[in-house]
Amino acid sequence: MINRNYLELKDSYLFAEVESRVAKYTAEHPGADVIRLGIGDVTRPLTPAVTAALHRAVDEMGEADTFRGYGPYAGYAFLREAIRGHYGKRNVALGLNEIFVSDGAKSDLGNILDIFGADISVLIPDPVYPVYVDTNVMAGRKIGFLQATEQNGFLPLPDPAVHGDIIYLCSPGNPTGAVYDRAGLAAWVDYANREGAVILFDAAYEAFVTGDLPRSIYEIPGTETCAIEFGSFSKTAGFTGTRCGYTVVPEALVRDGESLGALWLRRQSTKFNGTPYIVQRAAEAVYSEAGFAEAMANIAVYRENARVIADALTAAGVWFTGGENSPYIWLKCPGGMDSWTFFDRLLSKAQVVGTPGEGFGQNGEGFFRLTAFASPENTRRAARRLQDFLRAL
Ligand code: MLT
Repeated sequence: MINRNYLELKDSYLFAEVESRVAKYTAEHPGADVIRLGIGDVTRPLTPAVTAALHRAVDEMGEADTFRGYGPYAGYAFLREAIRGHYGKRNVALGLNEIFVSDGAKSDLGNILDIFGADISVLIPDPVYPVYVDTNVMAGRKIGFLQATEQNGFLPLPDPAVHGDIIYLCSPGNPTGAVYDRAGLAAWVDYANREGAVILFDAAYEAFVTGDLPRSIYEIPGTETCAIEFGSFSKTAGFTGTRCGYTVVPEALVRDGESLGALWLRRQSTKFNGTPYIVQRAAEAVYSEAGFAEAMANIAVYRENARVIADALTAAGVWFTGGENSPYIWLKCPGGMDSWTFFDRLLSKAQVVGTPGEGFGQNGEGFFRLTAFASPENTRRAARRLQDFLRAL
């Protein structure tokens, strides 16, 4: 017997569907100069501090004295120390035993569901990163949607009349780029502590936050009894192909009398053998002084790309949000066009790929996401084509 919950999923994962439409277009138009601002995949290479750490670690693996086999299930202490130091800079004190290293936030966000009961209720913003919805559909869980709309700035707040056992929050948000302020996050923390709920906080885009906005949910008092945070080196340091992330489960987070951190470690040690040693050394280097400066220099390049796209949209008179504290720009399709039609037209007329808002949920219909992760040159070329395309509509 198959898991029939899979039959409730859309035919393909959003970014796989985008890829297959682009593949069809390029097969029919060989030589087309397609520029991809679709999936949020980075283009800046790993930085010198990171590649130097990788080389050193590879050499160690080739010597009998320094060779490593299986590592600790929660990750090497050197990397967990580096992550703890990163949090410490924002006055968030974590224990080493509260940090669990993995191969990325996407895996952890899906896998964390193993430690929760099958019949719990889940609240998920709409629109949102499709992984939250799809992994709960696979498990047959009941999903309630939090309405993220232009009216509430795509930042839904808790409704005291609606109970959820698990709440997903992503800030800066994917796909809209919206960022919760302290008051917004505090409202969710109060709600979760009152309801006995657990917040799953996706902080994958924290490196893009500017000013005094929170980068971690643990900056909000009272969070250690109600939130798990997911971090990633993918967008911060270009690790989309290198793979490293981490999950923070506070010691004080207990449900049904059981420590969620202990359950997570039990889960990980049973089903996961850890992130490669060389990758953990590379991730450690991201938080070295030089490594962090290099990572931030790359983020500045992506920020400038976002500004270039934003300027093109402003010049074309198109409404958009995001791009300031996020690599994503969320625009309204002109003339009430639906988002897949906009996708197809933008691809065929301007050879620019984006992601249709509908793929992120019903409230995403009529919107469209562009990423700032392309090279500066391709971003400038895409922005010019986008502006011409929008003016001609
Ligand atoms: C996105 O484009 O939404 C992200 O790249 C997906 C991911 O990080 O897995």
